[in-house]
Amino acid sequence: MANKNLSAIILAAGKGTRMGSSIHKVLQPVGGRPMILHLVDTLKSIGVSKTVVVVGNEKEQVQSAVEGAQFAIQEPQLGTGHAVLAAQEDLGNFDGNVLILYGDVPLVSSTTMKKLINSLDNNPLAVLGFRAEVPGSYGRLVLNSEGSLEEIIEASEANDDILEIDLCNSGIMALDKKLLFSLLAEVTNENAKGEYYLTDIVGLSRNKALNISVVIVDENEVVGVNSKSELAQAEGIFQNLKRQEFMALGTTLLDPKSTYFSYDTKVGRDVTIGQNVVIGPNVEIGDFVNIHAFSHLEGCKIKTSANIGPFSRLRPGADIGEGAKVGNFCEIKESKVEGGAKVNHLSYIGDSRVGKGANIGAGTITCNYDGFNKFFTDIGAGAFIGSNTSLVAPVKIGNGAIIGAGSVITNSVDKDALAFVRADFKQVSGGAVKFRKRQKRNKVK
Ligand code: UD1
Ligand code: CA
Repeated sequence: MANKNLSAIILAAGKGTRMGSSIHKVLQPVGGRPMILHLVDTLKSIGVSKTVVVVGNEKEQVQSAVEGAQFAIQEPQLGTGHAVLAAQEDLGNFDGNVLILYGDVPLVSSTTMKKLINSLDNNPLAVLGFRAEVPGSYGRLVLNSEGSLEEIIEASEANDDILEIDLCNSGIMALDKKLLFSLLAEVTNENAKGEYYLTDIVGLSRNKALNISVVIVDENEVVGVNSKSELAQAEGIFQNLKRQEFMALGTTLLDPKSTYFSYDTKVGRDVTIGQNVVIGPNVEIGDFVNIHAFSHLEGCKIKTSANIGPFSRLRPGADIGEGAKVGNFCEIKESKVEGGAKVNHLSYIGDSRVGKGANIGAGTITCNYDGFNKFFTDIGAGAFIGSNTSLVAPVKIGNGAIIGAGSVITNSVDKDALAFVRADFKQVSGGAVKFRKRQKRNKVK
């Protein structure tokens, strides 16, 4: 059985009212990526031949977010059983096993998916269950005296005894396609919600004396996300997994619980990450990099042995070269800071190149935007930019040039030139004494 063809159905047509958001429930992000894309990726890794996503409410949102899947439309939405039926036509003449996933249960691992499929070797239907600390609104798995699954009862249909059960339904099932649709044809909507419950196929199988495998996983893997509170819970679980994953690969996290990763974060060898560091999507950190406390990174590349922070902000397009240094309260956007260059204090570098070994003084600002267009600043290798300089783009600073502190540079500066733009120095001898006397007199009056 495990060797049969495999296709998947992801349910994503529901309204998601409890989320209180105009963004579709399955597109709410966990680890910086819409929930449903976690599932799509995991499915790819186990080699499903076909994935059908069932959409309905706000279907355009889901369709534009999920690439390379087939969509079935469920309209109106009459329950999870009804939703699976909507995928029947799209599965066409597919022959084999079907894995059913819920778009709001994003963290199931490929190992678990495979385990569930493999358990079809023993029984024609397999259900993924878990022991919940707070079973709440999850469907309950009701076992018979021999310990095998008899039926799934939705919390809304359950009496107090059933609600006591802590063995819950994750929503994930696997079975042969023909069996799935023959069982679904018998599901009715005679229940408290007037919906067609997918979970009813379990009781129907038992009526036909078919046995059901239950695979039990840790609750963390199958948390269902219906509300912002559950979204935060899923995010917490995801972050803990990532922290463990990176520490297992040798990353030093000075305070793991305050380091935040994204689904696609890449970290090299012997990297140290300080306290309160947030890493958004599309970040690559090279070997021996040190990210100091309170830094915020997204869409950036940091090469070997670079030093970032504390309190640095690297925005999309920041490319920090080997051994370069970006220090406190510096923001880098769409800029290349080449090997060994230093941007150490209170600077904004946007749409720029900072050449090899250049030194950017405290408070340097690349003025890249005039309110209409963005312009480029090119700073040559080994240039030295004095503190509190404004570089008004487009502007080019030649290799090895020196800019005097406090300059507003609007023209390009030649290689190895010394440039400064400053008002003349003036001094009035004893002027301070005169000033104080005058102020005192005025105050008395
Ligand atoms: C469902 C299960 C419950 C399980 C829980 C696990 C049923 C009847 N109940 O409850 O046993 O413990 O998930 O998290 O299956 N959907 C559609 N069309 C519909 C209705 C729902 O596509 O008509 C989709 C939703 O978008 C969602 C998924 O199916 O992705 C689950 O629906 P939801 O309403 O969240 O079910 P739960 O009440 O969480
Ligand atoms: Ca749900």
